[in-house]
Amino acid sequence: MVVGTILTALWAMLPAYVPNNAAVLAGGGRPIDSGREWGDRRLLGDGKTWRGTAVGTLVGVALAAGLNGAGGPIEAATGLSLPAFPPAAAFGLAAGAMGGDIAASFLKRRSGRERGAAFPGLDQLDFVVGALVVVFAVAPGWTRATFTPAMLVVVLVATPMLHIGTNVIAYLIGAKNEPW
Ligand code: CTP
Ligand code: MG
Repeated sequence: MVVGTILTALWAMLPAYVPNNAAVLAGGGRPIDSGREWGDRRLLGDGKTWRGTAVGTLVGVALAAGLNGAGGPIEAATGLSLPAFPPAAAFGLAAGAMGGDIAASFLKRRSGRERGAAFPGLDQLDFVVGALVVVFAVAPGWTRATFTPAMLVVVLVATPMLHIGTNVIAYLIGAKNEPW
């Protein structure tokens, strides 16, 4: 029961978990803020690029499509009831995750943190909050039906742990400059 809730919550959030990691691998090129500053500081910084954002969003949407295909057989094998992702939900989760991370960079620059500086708490939850807000905006019925209160608790507790784990791995394999 509890395990089922955890697995269902992670499944529902996968299209939001993957985009930021894809962006790390795909990043580079023109920064979104084109180097513009606001009050002596970069608006967003060189770590937020058009290519990283576009690739990250596309990878999240493609993953959701793949999960839609894999869901039926996995449900049959496990007895779980897994959500499918309509296009709006897939896009909302993926784009919202990228948007939350971009908003966090905006806040980091405003608080004087250089690119790559850690902002504990914000770093671990920015993309989750962004994904939930945007998916609710673009697919409110789906979001309400999918994310029960128990699932939201799971998402808010499990995500920081997953995020820390994947970033340490990305750091160890040299894909990321800092382990956060
Ligand atoms: N990235 C990107 N576009 C995004 C998000 C990430 O190109 N929208 C790429 C960048 O190459 C970035 C890397 O992924 O350097 C790591 O992402 P992140 O840790 O979010 O960026 P930081 O470089 O640490 O910058 P910030 O301090 O603004 O978070
Ligand atoms: Mg960073």
